[in-house]
Amino acid sequence: MTPQEINDSNYVRIFDTTLRDGEQSPGASMTLAEKLKVAEVLDDMGVDVIEAGFPIASNGDFEAVREVAKLMKRSTVAGLCRASKVDIDRAWEALRHAKSPRIHTFISTSPLHMKVKLQMDPEDVVAAIHESVSHARRYCEDVEWSAEDGTRTEPDFLCRIVETAIAAGATTINIPDTVGYTTPDEYFDMFRMVRERVPNADKAVFSAHCHNDLGLAVANSLAAVRAGVRQIECTINGLGERAGNAAMEEIVMALRVRHDAMPYETGIDSTYLTRASKLVSQVSGFPVQYNKAIVGKNAFAHESGIHQDGMLKDAQTYEIMTPESVGLNKSNLVMGKHSGRHAFKEKLKDLGYALGDNAFQEAFSRFKDLADRKKNVYDEDIVALVDDELNRA
Ligand code: KIV
Ligand code: ZN
Repeated sequence: MTPQEINDSNYVRIFDTTLRDGEQSPGASMTLAEKLKVAEVLDDMGVDVIEAGFPIASNGDFEAVREVAKLMKRSTVAGLCRASKVDIDRAWEALRHAKSPRIHTFISTSPLHMKVKLQMDPEDVVAAIHESVSHARRYCEDVEWSAEDGTRTEPDFLCRIVETAIAAGATTINIPDTVGYTTPDEYFDMFRMVRERVPNADKAVFSAHCHNDLGLAVANSLAAVRAGVRQIECTINGLGERAGNAAMEEIVMALRVRHDAMPYETGIDSTYLTRASKLVSQVSGFPVQYNKAIVGKNAFAHESGIHQDGMLKDAQTYEIMTPESVGLNKSNLVMGKHSGRHAFKEKLKDLGYALGDNAFQEAFSRFKDLADRKKNVYDEDIVALVDDELNRA
């Protein structure tokens, strides 16, 4: 497909960077075997591009990119490199084994980053972009270029460097919100402006890469899609530097559940989301917060009596997607002090009890007393309570 065809379609590519930006999260490093396990799930679930690491960063990263590259059946495999020939050569050494390789090269472009971090003049940055992208294209047809700190880059300069990168052969242009600073309207306007003003913009696919410092990473990514972006960079569980990256599970399910409002498709089989989340949590050692959208322990759990009653009548009363659609078996009606008679009766049925009216009333009132004293009421607690009630009768 040409970039123009991709831009004209409603298909949004999912670029997963759990193994690169996700792993940059302090304390989240993974072994080679763990990375391969994660990569296999990403490949199976339909991720379009897997960023497997930063090959120049260490021998371990190099090896991980090379082994992921060899293993992937469907996904394109990307490796990150700075705007330097040594980085790009090393990345290619690891990526050349892939069925579908991508070199991803980046350089900072905001005034602050150019002056303080790179200590380079803007003109030298333009030259480095041209040289690095041209060098990468000698190896590989699929080259992504990123403007690090893109959202704090001066607009005229941003247009100029995007044009330069495309002229040098970049096929994907990523404009990251590196520090999680932008807002949905601002990010939308930025992509609109760049796509309108850059004369060769239709020769590339645009990409969003959002960090979550203000909790806006997913909203910003979705706004970018409305502005014509056709690749979203994200991670499982939103793992990533500082407050993390845009969470893949939220993007995929937002586009699916609200397809009426955002008519775009991804290639992700959403029934893999829970599995992928559990695996990444386990190998990174980062627990998933209980109330995390889509994959948190409580995302499909209900305790209040009113909600449980509604759920037992029709799950759509309090659930906007089915647990099965994200790979969970069923919703969880948690028994606690807010639970009502309806849920308690269903729980007894599940546990194999059929109590008469009086015994039921007595058991229910003892259950409520217990729930007031005990934070978590487990099935065993209910079994013990009901058995005791039956023995007394
Ligand atoms: O956040 C960022 O700017 C990045 C780039 C290196 C793509 O991760
Ligand atoms: Zn990033």
